[in-house]
Amino acid sequence: MKELNKRLVKFLCMGLCAGLISTAAAQETEAQKRGEEIAAQCVVCHGQQGNSTVPAFPKLAGQNEKYLLKQLKDMKKGLRPVPEMSAMLANLSDQNLNDLAIYYSKQAITLEGADPKLVELGEKLYRGGNLKTQVSACSACHGPQGKGMSAAGFPALSGQHANYTVAQLKAFRTAAREDQEGKKRENDPGSMMRSISKNLTDAEIIALSSYLSGLH
Ligand code: HEC
Ligand code: HEC
Repeated sequence: MKELNKRLVKFLCMGLCAGLISTAAAQETEAQKRGEEIAAQCVVCHGQQGNSTVPAFPKLAGQNEKYLLKQLKDMKKGLRPVPEMSAMLANLSDQNLNDLAIYYSKQAITLEGADPKLVELGEKLYRGGNLKTQVSACSACHGPQGKGMSAAGFPALSGQHANYTVAQLKAFRTAAREDQEGKKRENDPGSMMRSISKNLTDAEIIALSSYLSGLH
C-alpha cells in the first residue's frame, strides 16, 4: 500500500510538473506575441526585430531580458533619461515593458564590421583591461564573446553600433569625473561601469567600441 501511494504521488507529480512547464512556455509565447505588437512603436528608431540601422539608436535584438527590463524601468522612472522615449514609456505598463523585454530577447542580432586597425587594441583591452590605469577586463562581466551574462543582467555588447557604444562609455565616464561635461549615465548598479570607464582614454573607447561591433 505504501509503495502504491509512493508511485501514485510520483505519477501525479510528473503530470503536474509537465503541465506547469508547458503552461510556462505557453505564457512566454503569449508575452512574446504581445511584445511584438507593442514593438511596432519602436521600429522607427530601433529597427525591424530590434536591429536598428541608425548608429545612434541601439540594437535591442538578442539583448538579455533582465537587462532590457531594467533599462526600460530606469528610463521610465527618469533614472536614465532618454527624452526621445519618455512620452512613449509613460503610456506603457509594467506588463507592457515585461512583454517588450521578452520579445526583444528572442530576436537575433546582426553584426557590424570592426575596423581592422583597431582590433588589436580593442581585443587587448576587452580581454585584459589596462593594468596601468586600473581598467578591468570587460570579458569578466560581458563574456568572452560579448554575449553578456543573462542571469546577472550584464548586457551583451557584441554587434552593437560602435557610435552608440562610444556614447555610452563616454556617458559613464562623464558621470564618474568632475572634469568632463556632457551626457551622464548614472544607472549602473554599484557604479560598476562608472569606475571602469573613469580612466579610459578617447582612443581606448573608440577601439573597444569598434572591436565590439564585430565581436562574436
Ligand atoms: C524616437 C526614437 C526612439 C523610439 C521611438 C524608441 N527609442 Fe528606445 N532608445 C532611443 C535612443 C536614442 C536610445 C539611447 C539613449 C542613450 O543614448 O542613452 C534608446 C535606448 C533604448 C534602450 C536601452 C538599450 C541599451 O542597450 O541599453 C531600450 C531597452 C529601448 N530604447 C527600448 C525601446 C522600446 C521598447 C521602444 C518602443 C516602446 C523604444 N525604445 C522606442 C530612441 C528611441
Ligand atoms: C564588474 C562587471 C563589469 C565589467 C568588468 C565591465 N562591465 Fe560594462 N556593464 C556592466 C553592467 C552591470 C552594465 C549595465 C549597467 C546598467 O544596468 O545600466 C554594463 C553596461 C555596459 C555598457 C552599456 C551597454 C548598453 O547596451 O547600453 C557598455 C557599452 C559596457 N558596459 C562596456 C564595457 C566595457 C568596454 C568594459 C571594459 C572596459 C566593461 N563594460 C566592463 C558590468 C561590467
